[in-house]
Amino acid sequence: MIPSDRLPHIRSQFPALSRRQDGRPYLYLDGPGGTQVPRRTIEAMAAYLERNNANHEGAFPTSEESDAVLAEAHAAAADFLGADSAGEVVFGQNMTTITFALSRAIGRTLRQGDEIVVTRLDHDANVAPWLALQEERGAVVRWVEIRPDDCTLDMAGLERALGPRTRVVAVGMASNAVGTINPVSRIVAMAHHVGAWTYVDAVHAAPHLAIDAAALGTDFLVCSPYKFFGPHLGLLYGRRELLHRLAAYKVRPAADEPPGKWETGTLPGESIAGLLGTFDYLEWLGREFGGAQIDATDRRAALVAAMLAIRATERGLALQALTALGEVPGLTLRGIVDPARIDDRVPTFAFTLAGRTPREVATELGRRGIAVWDGDYYAYELIRALGLDESGGMVRVGLVHYNEPAEIERLAQALREIARPTAVPAPTR
Ligand SMILES: Cc1ncc(COP(=O)(O)O)c(C=O)c1O
Repeated sequence: MIPSDRLPHIRSQFPALSRRQDGRPYLYLDGPGGTQVPRRTIEAMAAYLERNNANHEGAFPTSEESDAVLAEAHAAAADFLGADSAGEVVFGQNMTTITFALSRAIGRTLRQGDEIVVTRLDHDANVAPWLALQEERGAVVRWVEIRPDDCTLDMAGLERALGPRTRVVAVGMASNAVGTINPVSRIVAMAHHVGAWTYVDAVHAAPHLAIDAAALGTDFLVCSPYKFFGPHLGLLYGRRELLHRLAAYKVRPAADEPPGKWETGTLPGESIAGLLGTFDYLEWLGREFGGAQIDATDRRAALVAAMLAIRATERGLALQALTALGEVPGLTLRGIVDPARIDDRVPTFAFTLAGRTPREVATELGRRGIAVWDGDYYAYELIRALGLDESGGMVRVGLVHYNEPAEIERLAQALREIARPTAVPAPTR
């Protein structure tokens, strides 16, 4: 856990956090849409552009240096994701683009009537690419519903959706709308039991939870560094044998082996260099606050320690937010609201405020220098399943480890101001 007296030091490493509006610190609660980055990330990006900027596989020093950066980033990302080797890590533009590419490659192996399981809780980037295979390959899509009372997956429904024709189970690790953590280990085991592959969307889990792709046993796992304190990029873990076996859509001169065969076109070298800066920051965090002595060469141990320290820190923030939001008049919070179940969620909260549309609330907060999201944030099915699509969805507030308890108080105070007092009927004469 990060001690509260060390939080100013953490925050000082994120230049964006010094932004002010109307004399007050700007309050970033838009982490689920993209987090801020530490100075090391910015410096690593600038250093790459100043010194190593070159294309791949040239016979000259800057190209060799750039390739060394890419190789190191694959190795570091493998450590972050718990992959067995750097060859199991693929960089791409973002999670959505990677998922369209992978799902199309998987689609090539499907036969008419093969089944794909998707969920109502997932971001549309782990739904729409699979729905496309209905049209293109005659695949049958089966849905796992949510339990509307706490926005958790209907696991009995998942059991029923699985069968001998299931080829893929696409599921999120944590909901980007309501923060639910799904029982992914169990889901992977259930999918494998019927011989299906698993495609895990860890985009919203990555800033909050330690990821161990190999221990999960998942076939694929995707996330986006810009959601976990890095630059705009996408990241895929794929089981080695599958990355080799599946046919990629690629240009002929590009590598035939993974990861190169999946990394379409020229990679954004400066972003990948920046990601190394992010891993550097997280490694520092893990060694500083992880609690145990970590071997200087063990990057994976330091990264896991960082994520465990982050998780422990966020637990306190999540409990405080549950209480503070619960006390705002007219506020209805969706998802897991029982503090006893805090370990089943990440600190991402979605709610409505009586008498105000989510856009009005977000605009009012924005005027006060508080950044939050409203709408469906592409959790398209969930917002419809909750019947909120016609009324503007929900307001979403996302906390990460650099947020402070005082910021939650400031949010709650602003929401109390924005909440319309219940109309008092005019006195009759
Ligand atoms: C849970 C989840 N999955 C997928 C995505 C899509 O990620 P990207 O923007 O990298 O395509 C997001 C982005 O908001 C997300 O929150």
